[in-house]
Amino acid sequence: MTAYLNGQFLPLSEARISPLDRGFLFGDGAYEVIPVYSRHPFRVDEHLRRLQASLDGIRLPNPHRVDEWHAIIGRIVAEADFVDQTVYIQITRGADSKRDQPFPKDVPPTVFLFTSPLVAPSPAQRESGIAAITANDIRWGRCDLKTVSLLANVLTRQLAVDAGCTETIMLRDGFLTEGSASNIFCVKNGVILTPPKDHRMLPGITYDIVLELAAKHGAPHQIRAISETELRTADEVWMTSSTKEVLGITQLDGRPLGKDDYIGKPGPVTRRMHAWYSQFRDEVMRKAHA
Ligand code: PDD
Repeated sequence: MTAYLNGQFLPLSEARISPLDRGFLFGDGAYEVIPVYSRHPFRVDEHLRRLQASLDGIRLPNPHRVDEWHAIIGRIVAEADFVDQTVYIQITRGADSKRDQPFPKDVPPTVFLFTSPLVAPSPAQRESGIAAITANDIRWGRCDLKTVSLLANVLTRQLAVDAGCTETIMLRDGFLTEGSASNIFCVKNGVILTPPKDHRMLPGITYDIVLELAAKHGAPHQIRAISETELRTADEVWMTSSTKEVLGITQLDGRPLGKDDYIGKPGPVTRRMHAWYSQFRDEVMRKAHA
């Protein structure tokens, strides 16, 4: 697998960083995950803009200009053995000669990228949707930044795995925030509902696309706070992320979601949105190839 570390392209197995790296010691860094289809990064400029926002939020200067990022990403994507990929970018505040919390002086950041095969949802997950659990959102107050301090997400996600489920939907003060690695949408009486972007959730690139598609196709939608009761009594629930795209959630805390003939199956709005998403992604990729 191809990787990039601090100016060098190298096999992932040869990449080495210091144990004093602040990413390792403090989780002091930001990251991005970019899906790549047929060797074309999807919505890369949006991901790079969010990376900039995360870096600004943690006061870490961006080590590269946008054109440099394009060149680095382009090369690891071109050199990979597989065409559909997930590019991971991580930037940390570097490795000092000691362990001390304040920002180090004159220490270069650590810049690390690697690409791996894109793992899309399985046909069975597409057909039946996935099971999720709910949990309290125990994260910090800047969930809008994509930082590598992911311990709360890790613990929360493991609760889902322990329960034989795929995702954990988080609730803060009785309201939906997001999934441990996804944004969440509900449907009630034909209206698509999702929480507004603020410090309580990551501004998802896929979240934006879904709202663009809802507007484009005239699907009724509202961006507003969603209570726990609304989540539990929703007609449909789905998650969005760069790797899962639009994926139906058909079971919550062991109970099937949905109504009528689609209990425990992705409902009609979820299916339509997934179809719109696939169509849109394919169009963008076709244009990129042209
Ligand atoms: N996660 N919320 C959280 C907490 C996330 O970690 C992610 C994505 C999203 C969805 O964002 P996007 O649509 O831009 O992928 C929402 C990535 C895929 C990850 O950490 O692997």
